[in-house]
Amino acid sequence: MKSTLLKNCRILQEGKLVRRHIYLEDSKIAYISEEIIAADEVIDLKELLVIPGMIDCHVHFREPGLTQKEDFLSGSMAAASGGVTSIIDMPNTLPPTTTVQLLDEKRKLAEKSIVNYGFHFGTDGDNLEEIKSAKNIASVKIYLNATTGNLCVTDFGKVERIMQAAPFCALHAEEQSLQEAISMASRLNKRFYAAHISSAAEIQMIKKAKKRPFVEVTPHHLFLDESYLQGNPMLGKVKPLLKAKKDQEALWQAIKNGIVDTIGTDHAPHLAEEKLSQESFGFPGVETALPLLMDAMQRDLITLEKAIELTSANPARIFQISNKGKLAEGYDADLVAIDLEMEKEVKASGFFSKSRWSPFEGKLLKGWPVYTFVNGNLVFSHGKIHDIKAKELLFEPRQKKIAQEGAAQEAASQEAASQEAASQENGKPVEQDKGVAL
Ligand code: NCD
Ligand code: ZN
Repeated sequence: MKSTLLKNCRILQEGKLVRRHIYLEDSKIAYISEEIIAADEVIDLKELLVIPGMIDCHVHFREPGLTQKEDFLSGSMAAASGGVTSIIDMPNTLPPTTTVQLLDEKRKLAEKSIVNYGFHFGTDGDNLEEIKSAKNIASVKIYLNATTGNLCVTDFGKVERIMQAAPFCALHAEEQSLQEAISMASRLNKRFYAAHISSAAEIQMIKKAKKRPFVEVTPHHLFLDESYLQGNPMLGKVKPLLKAKKDQEALWQAIKNGIVDTIGTDHAPHLAEEKLSQESFGFPGVETALPLLMDAMQRDLITLEKAIELTSANPARIFQISNKGKLAEGYDADLVAIDLEMEKEVKASGFFSKSRWSPFEGKLLKGWPVYTFVNGNLVFSHGKIHDIKAKELLFEPRQKKIAQEGAAQEAASQEAASQEAASQENGKPVEQDKGVAL
């Protein structure tokens, strides 16, 4: 057994930042201690902030078929350098991941990943038997709006049959199709994962839902608005489109109100020349998500607790990922050490992603990952990648747990809605919980 001591970590414990030493045994966190424990290897993290690595539930690593844009090695190196320790890949590859055989082929391709990986299964609306046989998938992703690839399902009869057959569904549904999906899910008593919610109107629909979906928002909808698209008509294209300032504000408010469950990057890389020469929707995201959030935290836009909840604890809980999403004894050692003092401009020419452009190019951010550990292995340090292969995520069987989860979430969302109603009656905006001072 190999032991590693991560000395002098600043971690969040019971709402407070404290100095602790984290003792790893092989891939696991064995002890979180106030005392130094002798270990085979000691890494002094010199008071850096250590948090659970981000679990990014929404990436497009483009393998197979679109590897000029990304592959599991380049995408995972990009992820590791951004403090993302697990990713869940989307099925709109070439060919799309709509059969068990294609899923198994993708599993093989993903073995080169240096962060942990899982898969959303695809559907063309007619692959029910494949959906029922697919093992260890995060969800079945249903595209109700057209986007990159050929997986759009517009027949709601088919969507209903998929929702009934699948253990869990993630939906790309915007505006009207989101409303219809919410009504259907409420009728079927099914909870789904609503990817990249981006507008005030969608937040309203979700608040009113009888059966509220889990809500993902992306960093680009939080940190950019439609003015970026106006200034960059080709590069600025993303699905859903960047929205108005008031929509952006509604997303931040929804984070404060507990309506938002996860931040997923929707890392959708295209080469700059592809973006500029033909209509290509999507932005790279794994290298900038945590720096954007850490910078926002230091400007009091979000608390550290909330950022951790949205990027690790909730993704692990919602997708029922075994043993991940917490900095606690017995959990997998998927960790990121962040230098909150490091101030640096986003420079896409230095990205590990093949997509060497960014909508955040030139943006000055304070708070960057310096060390990333995956399963106890140091895979990124001080700008360098260490190529150590990771593992496939394990998703726990759903039925029972998700039903309980449903009840708990419902109560939480009703409470959030009634709190907001109460504060609106008082004429005051809802105040953000203060969280920890840094
Ligand atoms: C995604 C892509 O390119 O795969 N594009 C995007 O704009 N988000 C597809 C998607 O998530 O809709
Ligand atoms: Zn996507």
